This record gives sequence, C-alpha cells and structure tokens, in this order.
Amino acid sequence: MRQRAFTVGSLIPGSISVPIIQQQPQPVVRSIPEKIIIQQGSQKFEISTAKGKLLDAALNQRKPIQYKCRKGTCGQCTVKVLQGPTLSPPNEQEHKKLANALNNGYRLACQAEILQ
Ligand code: FES
Repeated sequence: MRQRAFTVGSLIPGSISVPIIQQQPQPVVRSIPEKIIIQQGSQKFEISTAKGKLLDAALNQRKPIQYKCRKGTCGQCTVKVLQGPTLSPPNEQEHKKLANALNNGYRLACQAEILQ
C-alpha cells in the first residue's frame, strides 16, 4: 500500500499555484561577418561587406585591387580570401582560370559575389 505525504499547504484548496512559464521562441540571429579580408600578392585588403561583386566592393572602398578584363579571363583580379562572409560558388570562368587554386581560397574578384 502506497502512502501519500501531505503537507499543510497541499490540503488547502487553491493554496498551491504553479507558475506557467511559456518560453517564447528565440529569433535565429545569424552573424554575418562585416569584413572581408583578401590578399592580392603581398597586399592585404580589408573590405566592408556590400552586396555585389567582390571587385566592385573593393574598388568602391578605394582598395587598389589589380584587375583588367572584368570578364573572368585575364586572371589579374585573383585574390586569396583570408576571412569573410560566404561568397557565391565559383562559376565556370573561375573553374577554368583557377582550377585547383579554388581549393586554397583563391577567387576571381570580378566573378565572386558577396552573399548576404
Ligand atoms: S579582371 Fe580579368 S579575370 Fe577578373
């Protein structure tokens, strides 16, 4: 036979109040790095993220990135992305021009788009 333990408070109707705590769903906040750090040759550039091509963002912020064709054919704008937000997947021109260098973080600044 099971015995129940009663306290003085449990015998008085309505004396026990259990707070109901409803948890609100927390919004998912993604932190997008605000800076992109790229290297071209021996120079490093810090670029604030902006929608569009990586080269355009750099030039708009007066970063002296080397470039020529803007079509993905000359390779002058090749940069190594050291840190930063997600860029668009490499396109056909980048695959042709950079091949295995893509795996080492190299991108064509005129082709890579900053995703936000
Ligand atoms: S400027 Fe020629 S490949 Fe980017």
